[in-house]
Amino acid sequence: MQNPIIVALDVPSTQKALKLAEELAPVVGAFKIGKQLFVNGGPDVVRKLRGVGAKTFLDLKFHDIPNTVARAVQASTDLGVDMLTVHASGGSEMLAAAENAGHEQAAMLRSEPPLILGVTVLTSMDDANLAELGIDESAQDRVLRLAKLAAGAGLRGLVCSPQEISLIRGELGDGIQLVTPGIRPESSDAGDQKRTMTPAEAMKAGANWLVIGRPITGAKSPKAAAVEILNSINPELVPESERPLPEAVDCSECGQSIKLDKNEQLSGKYHCPYCEKEIVHKR
Ligand code: C5P
Repeated sequence: MQNPIIVALDVPSTQKALKLAEELAPVVGAFKIGKQLFVNGGPDVVRKLRGVGAKTFLDLKFHDIPNTVARAVQASTDLGVDMLTVHASGGSEMLAAAENAGHEQAAMLRSEPPLILGVTVLTSMDDANLAELGIDESAQDRVLRLAKLAAGAGLRGLVCSPQEISLIRGELGDGIQLVTPGIRPESSDAGDQKRTMTPAEAMKAGANWLVIGRPITGAKSPKAAAVEILNSINPELVPESERPLPEAVDCSECGQSIKLDKNEQLSGKYHCPYCEKEIVHKR
């Protein structure tokens, strides 16, 4: 099983993104660069994140005439992104042009084509918002229609809410990669996400990748938060060097036995009351 966590780097600067990425790279699967970070940092932010040794997901949701989208996908492939998004509502010609451009450019570069993900209906849209646009289908019917359109045009992946996973899997089977935002660990605040699932629930429902932003980036220790999530999905995914410490350890500085709280277990950092030092535990 791959590490399914994609961290949404919704931060305003390359510097902040890199600091988070360097900390998190050992315990997450990929980083998502959205419009805010890309407009601020430009393509260089992608190059630098790749430099950290991380997979990158460029979430710019392309939607334009087929030729323009194909060129944008070509440029993203040159940049070496592993995943990118397009709006499925751009239609089958646009979707096929995007998928072909990714394959053609990757063949030329002798690299892997990016996984192009179709965005169906934004989760901020409900039936009333669709009606406003003259669309009298329900949001759910539209999600399915667009999912089928994207798969029919050759796309190998979709972005969907966790609630839509079983609907889409039922229609399109197991071959399609499903990437889901709207993930909230039990202990964290839902914020502006309304219909959420925990990481373990979403994986059980059939997600391949989980997009997680604030529960990780806004945590006191982003790395400890990511390790806790990974541990809840499958403890074997946590690299040995990052596994939570037991409840009691011998201080790696003075050897005295001390009890750790949950945060200390996850972060591997504690204050030793015997030697009065801030310890990063040596395993
Ligand atoms: O901080 P949080 O975990 O809510 O971040 C989720 C990320 O996924 C954000 O970058 C957000 O823009 C994105 N996203 C979403 N819902 C969608 C599509 C994308 O929350 N339907």
